[in-house]
Amino acid sequence: MAEIEPIADKVTSYFYAQLFLRHPDLRALFPAAMDVQRDRLFKALLTAATHADDTAALTAYLDRLGRGHRKYGTLPEHYPAVGEALICALSRHASSSWGPRTEAAWVSAYTTISQIMIDAATADELRAPAWWQAEVVGHEMRTPDVAVVTVRPDQPYPFLAGQYTALETPWWPRVWRHYSFASAPRSDGVLSFHVKAVPAGWVSNALVHRARPGDVIRLGAPTGSMTVDHSTDNGLLCLGGGTGIAPIKALVEDVAQHGRRRSVDVFYGARRTDDLYDIETMLRLQQSHSWLSVRPVVDDSPVGLLSGGLPGAVREHGPWHTYDVYLSGPPGMIRRGVDTLLGIGVSTHRIRHDSIEELVGAAT
Ligand SMILES: Cc1cc2nc3c(=O)[nH]c(=O)nc-3n(C[C@H](O)[C@H](O)[C@H](O)COP(=O)(O)OP(=O)(O)OC[C@H]3O[C@@H](n4cnc5c(N)ncnc54)[C@H](O)[C@@H]3O)c2cc1C
Ligand code: HEM
Repeated sequence: MAEIEPIADKVTSYFYAQLFLRHPDLRALFPAAMDVQRDRLFKALLTAATHADDTAALTAYLDRLGRGHRKYGTLPEHYPAVGEALICALSRHASSSWGPRTEAAWVSAYTTISQIMIDAATADELRAPAWWQAEVVGHEMRTPDVAVVTVRPDQPYPFLAGQYTALETPWWPRVWRHYSFASAPRSDGVLSFHVKAVPAGWVSNALVHRARPGDVIRLGAPTGSMTVDHSTDNGLLCLGGGTGIAPIKALVEDVAQHGRRRSVDVFYGARRTDDLYDIETMLRLQQSHSWLSVRPVVDDSPVGLLSGGLPGAVREHGPWHTYDVYLSGPPGMIRRGVDTLLGIGVSTHRIRHDSIEELVGAAT
């Protein structure tokens, strides 16, 4: 690993070159442009191999990964091909530490890892489709670069408020990006997403500026653990920055649907007042539910709004140590938010957010 890490880019390129030279048919599973996302498969392989002895932690992650690979069209017979390319890339670039024992260790680690993924995918076949098709049934611009996109899946799509999915548009085949559900499950089965077009972003620009009713997108399975624990009456403290307000709104709806009165405090942050694109919905929810408090926070500080960033605003209120806390937004906001919360005595097990690693991956 020490030999590989400093030259990871080179090894990754070699790995893919070997994979596609030996198995040209597999190229069609991957997006046309092999951009920065590409090193995630290889990095995951190295990370999983490093933790090969910690099977419990590994299994939860690999189960999810294996199920998630169904939407790429990955089949059990593809795994040996990836394994061969991996061993080939490692043996060539870690030449001074490579030998029969190292090779045996890697083969054993890869076999364990891939078997967990294959088993999880096979079990999932009995429960759910590999992907869902969904027709765009609504498209509403909220700011020049934020749209609310509403879709109707072709078959029932069970999920929980606070989760997210992977989504592929017809304009960028096999390019999947994550988006959080902006509502709790609805009786009509319709789903919505809040999408911000990021500069030069492929999927977000397609969804914001190109998608129209009638277009059909693909959805992967729902995932994510930012969900409400309905077995307690703990208060909920929610920090939503930018489109991060989408899953927070879903959580509020979820609490409302369950009909138990537990206090929910939402801090909704944005750079400027104009960027608080969903503030009217949130204030309407506040009017209907006495247990809900919504506080807008902006970096510029017009009269009547909190200013100076979400973590600061949260610190000024509280105490929060008896609350379950949910954070959603840009990675920097989540990091600062978590630091603040830990600093004011909220314990780690009460804090929930989506994986910062994936979020950083999305914004780098
Ligand atoms: C768990 C999770 C949930 C998410 N939920 C949502 C959601 O509900 N709504 C939503 O709009 N997005 C959400 N995202 C981000 C989303 O997955 C995409 O990363 C984002 O839409 C950009 O994709 P793209 O294909 O348009 O850009 P890419 O083609 O991947 O990137 C193009 C360029 O934009 C840069 N970039 C990527 N993201 C950002 C960013 N946020 N700000 C500035 N620059 C950026 C990249 O560094 C790159 O240079 C979520 C991400 C994760 C991991
Ligand atoms: C143990 C083996 C494997 C590991 C650890 C692994 C890991 C990963 C990871 C972490 C990603 C990033 C996106 C995500 O989280 O879904 C990914 C994407 C992908 N993987 Fe795998 N993978 C493995 C095997 C395979 C195999 C056998 C195939 C089939 C040839 C495959 C095809 C893909 C494809 C097509 C993508 C999407 C690439 C993209 O989004 O651009 N993977 N893999």
